[in-house]
Amino acid sequence: MTLPNKDTQVPGWIIGAIILVNMFLLIPPVLVAKARFSTSRATRIHVFYDMDQQQKYTAQSSNDLFRDGRSSRLPVLGTVARGQLNQDSHYYWGTVDGDWANSFPPEVDVNAALLARGEARYGIYCAPCHGISGHGDGMIARRTAVSDYGAWTVTDLSSEKGLAHPIGELFNIIGHGINTMPGYKSQIPIEDRWAIVAHVKAIQFSQSVDVAEIPAGEKQRLESIEKAPGSDDSQPSEEGGGSQPRQGR
Ligand code: HEC
Repeated sequence: MTLPNKDTQVPGWIIGAIILVNMFLLIPPVLVAKARFSTSRATRIHVFYDMDQQQKYTAQSSNDLFRDGRSSRLPVLGTVARGQLNQDSHYYWGTVDGDWANSFPPEVDVNAALLARGEARYGIYCAPCHGISGHGDGMIARRTAVSDYGAWTVTDLSSEKGLAHPIGELFNIIGHGINTMPGYKSQIPIEDRWAIVAHVKAIQFSQSVDVAEIPAGEKQRLESIEKAPGSDDSQPSEEGGGSQPRQGR
């Protein structure tokens, strides 16, 4: 092997410079990689500001201009949002002349579609506690009956107590709750609350009908329905046992 001529070799300082430049070239990709996997509270580097950053008060920040120091101001007392006057007390509050209404408001057309809607909504929002047929034996009622948190009784909607509420009050109970029952105003829109009232009335009616009043065809149909296996309510087959459905109070 012949050694290369010293004159044709790349000078050491050039090799050193190349190594140095390559080392510096590694810095940007390392920074990019770090930025991809780390988070920072610092504002991004902005080349064009446009209107991205402006002076403003953010929610819950303070402002010395006001005596209470809050930057978020309350609306002027008595302010009513457009379309939220809710002046129609029958429809919005279930009251007529300051008393619970005994009828549905004129806005609510009680028909088959409303009842179907009410049944579906009841199944979602009420049946877990009150049970499909309203006897207060929903799954939550069954489970809490044996819980460590002390028993709570879910009212049988067809009991004397359940029947005592006028239509307007039923509407109010759904929205605002009663005693230990929470209100569902924020989850259930107003039309659906009225639909549920209609379904609750239907449940209550169904519990007090004289068999003689049932039309012959309907009676035959009901009698022909075979009991589904395991539908015997008197013996809930809960694992571990000991849980009895609550049948009202
Ligand atoms: C989380 C369980 C729960 C849900 C869900 C629930 N309720 Fe109740 N409800 C109760 C309990 C518990 C009571 C009894 C409150 C009391 O008096 O302590 C009650 C009471 C009532 C009453 C009043 C009867 C009375 O005690 O005077 C009505 C009417 C009623 N519920 C209707 C409904 C309707 C309609 C829905 C569906 C929108 C619903 N509830 C959803 C638990 C529930």
